[in-house]
Amino acid sequence: MDDMNKKIESEINFLDALKSPLRLFGLVYFYFFAVALIIGVYFVKNLDEISFNQIPGTALDTLRIERDIPLKVGGIRPAMDLELISNPTSDFIAKGKDLYQTNCASCHGAEGRGDGPAGAVLNPPPRSFYELDGWKNGREFSQLYKTLQEGIAGSGMTAYEFIAPEDRVAIIQFIRTLTDYPEVTEDEIVSLDSQYQLTKGVVEPNNIPIKSAKKIIASEFRKSTKLLMERSVSENTNLILQNYSIDPIKTIQNFKLRFNDSLDFNDFIFTASSDPKMLALKSEIVNLTDNEWEQLYQYLSSL
Ligand code: HEC
Repeated sequence: MDDMNKKIESEINFLDALKSPLRLFGLVYFYFFAVALIIGVYFVKNLDEISFNQIPGTALDTLRIERDIPLKVGGIRPAMDLELISNPTSDFIAKGKDLYQTNCASCHGAEGRGDGPAGAVLNPPPRSFYELDGWKNGREFSQLYKTLQEGIAGSGMTAYEFIAPEDRVAIIQFIRTLTDYPEVTEDEIVSLDSQYQLTKGVVEPNNIPIKSAKKIIASEFRKSTKLLMERSVSENTNLILQNYSIDPIKTIQNFKLRFNDSLDFNDFIFTASSDPKMLALKSEIVNLTDNEWEQLYQYLSSL
């Protein structure tokens, strides 16, 4: 027991501890540990600001790329004789050769070996029609037609839908004389016809990109409501609107946008009183009598 007391005494006696300094480590160790722990926690909590290698992302965000309809002039695509697909005449093939020289030879070469002068810089290079491998769409008649209709995305091969279907078929028939190509089957012709309406002929409308269409619609809308407004101002038809609207044209426009499809009187009163700004109205609009509400509503929906 005495021994035990002595031991504890010496443990807490600092002067004693100084005699063998190594024992001090036991006391200081805890503080080192605590400081290291605090720094560690701080570091992890602030990783965002401390992170050493911040390199701004350079990859393109593909979700933000907008696709739109291309600008395209429409026109009439006359009907064609399907016989020219199964049994091309030599005149027809000669016509195809001419068209090929005009439209295709610059890239694909006069003999179709993919060595035309304009194709020299293209990657992928223009196809040689004698090679059997590596075709994107393929060598069957319908696949050749598809290539001319749509082009090959991401290459110099653009769509040739502006060439009339019969002329496209002529070009394909010429290409098919260069070397052996798969036979055209009856089924293939039938499905080609139903897909591209070869025997019907089609009137293709003009296309404009949606972005431009939206702009045009918005500006037409503004113009037409402005006209309406000018008319109504000159006819001096509605005093309520004059008195209670901050901007009568805006009121008419917003009314049309909001209520034109669902003409609901109560809905109108509710919106106009709870959110007058939405219709460019003054907040005093709530003072209208039932009769005046009715008049205003009738007037706006009559426009
Ligand atoms: C501006 C150069 C250029 C012109 C002009 C051009 N092509 Fe091409 N064409 C290419 C390129 C480049 C390729 C290779 C595309 C690829 O492999 O991705 C190609 C590929 C093709 C293919 C192979 C498609 C496949 O399935 O791989 C066909 C068929 C073709 N062209 C037909 C024509 C016809 C017919 C014409 C004329 C009406 C024509 N091309 C005009 C550049 C051109």
